[in-house]
Amino acid sequence: MGFGKGYGKTILFGEHFVVYGFPAIASALSSYTTAEVKIVVGKGWEVIDQRPATPGYKKKKYNEAMQSIKNVIAHMNVDVGCQKLELTFSGDLFAASGVGASAAQATSLARAINDSFTLMLDDEKINDAAYEGEKAYHGTPSGIDNTASTYGGLIWFVKNLDGGKNTMEKLRSPEKIPLVIANTGITASTTEVVADVKRLKESNPEKFENIFKEYKILSEKAKKALLESDRSLIGKLMNQNHKLLQDITVSSEINDKLVGIALDNGALGAKMTGTGRGGLVIALAENDEVQKNITNAIEMKGYDAWKTMIG
Ligand code: MEV
Repeated sequence: MGFGKGYGKTILFGEHFVVYGFPAIASALSSYTTAEVKIVVGKGWEVIDQRPATPGYKKKKYNEAMQSIKNVIAHMNVDVGCQKLELTFSGDLFAASGVGASAAQATSLARAINDSFTLMLDDEKINDAAYEGEKAYHGTPSGIDNTASTYGGLIWFVKNLDGGKNTMEKLRSPEKIPLVIANTGITASTTEVVADVKRLKESNPEKFENIFKEYKILSEKAKKALLESDRSLIGKLMNQNHKLLQDITVSSEINDKLVGIALDNGALGAKMTGTGRGGLVIALAENDEVQKNITNAIEMKGYDAWKTMIG
């Protein structure tokens, strides 16, 4: 029997921009998905999915999840012709659009296979295997989700567009900062949203060039603000990042509504996170009390919200 974990993540800055080689900053969550691999008689593999999830999430992502598992197994050269893998996924990461659930599943599986077959792979190789899994969700994953899921902590990530090694830098911020994660309850298709952005960029290159320029400056400021735990500046930059995400049409009415509730209840900044057009929204709080107020306000409006810390 083999066992592995993959952390959930939240993108603090730069979703979508990261696909085009701009830096993004993500924080792993303390919640994770676990995978257990049992080798049984037979051939192929079977999945028992016990992860808690947003209603409809597993159904919508079913085909992609199966392809992702297939990719990881193939990449790790596991022979499933003369043995069967019984794969059980569980853990406390609530599977929802925006939380890196797909990457967490792929990473946990890679680690569990590594454990089960004593492959002795290092984190870099685990990350490579999880990246293969991520390809099942859209053709051009930046790799930020599996990197955050594999390494944990706060990371600065830049995709190498020439296919070489990506840049991954661990950031150490002096303080932990309270964050609220709010769930729109809508499961978005990363494949569709990423493809839409690509189409839009191709039809309006000038607009995108200006947005990209603005984002690049913002990302450098965000890194510095996080390294200094400058809460108020981090919040302001999150608001600006949300505006840019609106400009590239990946936010939605419900994302904007949750951002509004968070800001009205004292958040220093708020933005959608991840794919967008549903999924999750994050809000930065000055302290635990404000974090509680934001969480309560969101729940009062009928949405799920979780408290976490970044940094
Ligand atoms: C999805 O969590 C983040 C996106 O930027 C896609 C990617 O980075 O591959 C939307």
